[in-house]
Amino acid sequence: MKKILFVTSEAHPLIKTGGLADVCGSLPKALAELSQDIRLIIPNYQSLKTTENVRFLSSIRVDNRNINLLETSMPDSHVIVWLVDYPAYYNYPGNPYVDGEGEPWPNNAERFGLFCRIVTEVAMNRINQDWAPDIVHCNDWQSGLVPALLSLEENRPATVFTIHNMAYQGLFPSASAATLNLPGQLWHPAGLEFHSMLSFIKGGLVYADFITTVSPTYALEIQTPEFGYGLEGLLEYRKEFLGGIINGIDLDQWDAEKDPNILQCYNAKSLNKKLLNKAELQAKYGLPVDEDIPLFGLIGRLVEQKGIDLLLDCLSEMVTMNLQFVLLGSGDKVYEKALQAFADLHPDKIAIKIGYDESLAHLIEAGADVFIMPSRFEPCGLNQMYSQRYGTIPIVRKTGGLADTVIDALPETLRNQTATGIVFNEATPSALLEAIKRTLILYSMPDSWKKIQVNAMSKDFSWQRSAEQYLALYERL
Ligand code: ADP
Ligand code: GLC
Repeated sequence: MKKILFVTSEAHPLIKTGGLADVCGSLPKALAELSQDIRLIIPNYQSLKTTENVRFLSSIRVDNRNINLLETSMPDSHVIVWLVDYPAYYNYPGNPYVDGEGEPWPNNAERFGLFCRIVTEVAMNRINQDWAPDIVHCNDWQSGLVPALLSLEENRPATVFTIHNMAYQGLFPSASAATLNLPGQLWHPAGLEFHSMLSFIKGGLVYADFITTVSPTYALEIQTPEFGYGLEGLLEYRKEFLGGIINGIDLDQWDAEKDPNILQCYNAKSLNKKLLNKAELQAKYGLPVDEDIPLFGLIGRLVEQKGIDLLLDCLSEMVTMNLQFVLLGSGDKVYEKALQAFADLHPDKIAIKIGYDESLAHLIEAGADVFIMPSRFEPCGLNQMYSQRYGTIPIVRKTGGLADTVIDALPETLRNQTATGIVFNEATPSALLEAIKRTLILYSMPDSWKKIQVNAMSKDFSWQRSAEQYLALYERL
């Protein structure tokens, strides 16, 4: 049994802004199910949804500050959670990273810098708990300083750093390195310095014993300038210590057979019941209720990564086709407004909801016929997996985890029953449009469509295999 300290800035159902939370909520659970002693550590944000009793664990003094560690457990499992409690930094409403206006909290370097300092103390068993982890598993830039700080310690645990998204690096002015009181040995271009800025993510990329990405394809992509954001050279240099492990999904939460968020539960043998969810979804969005018209859905952050611009360029042609489109998301105001404008012009075809709504996300997965994910890059992506499990056929661009989890419907894959979606290559509106047309043709052939649905629904996206891969990695380290 390994002792694992799992470090994250979000974890569902405690707090979630995106897929990082899904993964950091469900991977520790899967590792615990493999009988590992795992503890999750996270800042004690005001918006954290803890249901279990929270108890005092320990007090730590760092940089003349007293920080408390509290203990609770995940609301939906027995995974132990340690909360880093420092109200001056974390006791604010809303999002872990940005304020109500969508602007990053001005003291993010200090907030996550302190978090990393505390994690390092915990990792070194200096909190009077007699618990010394074998592995410290960090996720994304918010935990990036941990491998760097640990690299200076003797008898330290092994470190793993998982990249969920290279686009977010935690870059701050160089003066932050002094404000954070970072050891001078870490401050150089082959360390935490990146073009005279302090880079949190480099702490993980340079100093972790092993780097993982959330899909094998993304591990290769980030070694190229297009996806590496200037860090491709470093990643190539470390390629012996870099690999991809595909994310799984939480089948307790995403199971069409027992999903409390949807109108009618169903499985591959009762696909006709899926239509009741379709009607409910059409009604909820104020679209004509019609079981024959193909209903396309999209859920996600409305940012460049997700290819929203590609979709916007297709909408004027899409409204001439026999289809409906529903969207749930929030993000760049430019995209929000442009989408709203289309919806206002074509209320019988396009309907959008700007915002965040977990329950509606489940209904879209269950009620839509097709799920669009035209991402420009996608480290893994979860919705294409949720979609497949719900018999909702994904249209995806061939990148990152989308390439690794969706099998294009071609004559060959239709014949051998492996087809699970529609895949297109180029990040252009015309390629997306062609994929949409291809989808409509398949939709008009009910037998083929149903076969793709059944193939998709029977795919195993459970965490077990991936959790075993992480465990093998921990053992190797
Ligand atoms: P990313 O982490 O890049 O945003 P993922 O596909 O990995 O993308 O995960 C996104 C997760 O966030 C999914 O669980 C998705 O359903 C959820 N999500 C994104 N936007 C919304 C929203 N507006 N309302 C509800 N859930 C959302
Ligand atoms: C990131 C990526 C997404 C991935 C998620 C969980 O937010 O953008 O592709 O699925 O992390 O690993």
